[in-house]
Amino acid sequence: ATNGADGRDARVGPVTPVLTKRWMSPRSWTLKTYEQLEGYTALRKALRAHPDQLIQLVKDSGLRGRGGAGFPAGMKWGFIPQNDGKPHYLVINADEGEPGTCKDVPLMMADPHSLVEGVIITAYAIRSHYAAIYVRGEALHCIRRVHAAVQEAYRAGYLGKDILGSGFDLDVVVHAGAGAYICGEETALLDSLEGKRGQPRLKPPFPATAGLYSAPTVVNNVETIASVPYIVNGGSGWFRTMGTEKSPGPKIYSITGHVERPGQYEAPLGITLRELLKLAGGMKDNIPLKFWTPGGSSTPLLTAEHLDVPLDFEGAAEAGSMLGTTAIQVFNETVSVPWAVMKWTEFYEHESCGKCTPCREGTFWLAQVLQRMLRGEGTPEDVETLLDVCDNILGRSFCALGDGATSPITSAIKYFRHEFLELCEKNQPALAGAQS
Ligand code: NAI
Ligand code: SF4
Repeated sequence: ATNGADGRDARVGPVTPVLTKRWMSPRSWTLKTYEQLEGYTALRKALRAHPDQLIQLVKDSGLRGRGGAGFPAGMKWGFIPQNDGKPHYLVINADEGEPGTCKDVPLMMADPHSLVEGVIITAYAIRSHYAAIYVRGEALHCIRRVHAAVQEAYRAGYLGKDILGSGFDLDVVVHAGAGAYICGEETALLDSLEGKRGQPRLKPPFPATAGLYSAPTVVNNVETIASVPYIVNGGSGWFRTMGTEKSPGPKIYSITGHVERPGQYEAPLGITLRELLKLAGGMKDNIPLKFWTPGGSSTPLLTAEHLDVPLDFEGAAEAGSMLGTTAIQVFNETVSVPWAVMKWTEFYEHESCGKCTPCREGTFWLAQVLQRMLRGEGTPEDVETLLDVCDNILGRSFCALGDGATSPITSAIKYFRHEFLELCEKNQPALAGAQS
């Protein structure tokens, strides 16, 4: 597959399967297949290097966090105090919960050992002897698969005491979440791991300073850590041949909704939706695109005008949105924007942890107003009420969930205000998911 080579950025080259290269191999999740396909060769190389060299390598690669925020991974690792003789922890955020996001679960199902190998290398680099993989509770099949891979790695001597004769010890625990979206927020996840109710902590201090059991902790997303073995084997220069200067490397884009072939598409960061749509077989039944999310529902909606926005951290921001989790949800012209926004808002209302008032009360009232509109009982003033409530949530909530809940509403009103107004003027119940 190619990206159309329109001269936008010469580094955005042809799609090169990296993270997904083993996914179609027979029994790709087994240690046997993984080892046949270069598995654990990066670990052998890494264990011969000094931990600081590995941190520098990841810094040089420019790898940015794949959980949504895009924080530089090497810099995060570099925050961990070295040679302090105290425990450090590595925690993998596998609680993938953002609506539309379905990249980490397929990665763990198809190639769990790439995550396990990344975990061992990262733990060695940050001098941690204990790592936890926190998997979304509903994904029971995935928990079993990652657990089985960890057991295989123990049996093969890749985990436990004196890994491959290096003198390095590491234990890995696979922990099941209990189905709360908020536990994907890193500090709520840490509280949950400690056995408490999962609610966000105040930041700073960031987990790198005071994380699990108040010890320095690196929390990274599955895809971030699964990228590490490839960087160790390929080098930082090779990694930078993909993507853009500020957002290097390959990325898994989850494409759902009204396309011919929904699924996971690995491509260099900076690819556009126009190019991704070609890979996904185009719009389903050729019905034109109306709106889409670049990275889950917490990222502001974009429209058909944004087909050529480079999908990297900078490009998405310049277009007034965010790259987020690269969960591209595609909606065609048959979909009512207020209806889709109401469904997302109901999700945020349900998942708000209740710790802070703007989010707890605000998401409740947003859902009430949107439901009223969809029942055909809204007034044009309700549009302003929605914006006012969003204004009182944004920047006033304790964690990113509150801010995220406002994104679909404010962006939808920005581009499709007329649809909200029409709904209020018609005063008829709207059809679920479709415009009459
Ligand atoms: P954030 O920007 O606060 O932090 C990103 C990472 O960098 C964290 O690990 C944080 O500890 C670290 N960090 C930031 N500044 C630091 C500093 N000065 N010192 C040390 N470490 C620092 O973003 P947050 O709240 O962790 O994540 C928000 C993103 O999560 C959103 O962009 C959204 O797209 C994404 N998200 C992903 C979900 C998923 O299912 N993968 C679910 C919901 C949201
Ligand atoms: Fe909880 Fe929402 Fe406040 Fe976050 S913003 S702490 S999810 S109530």
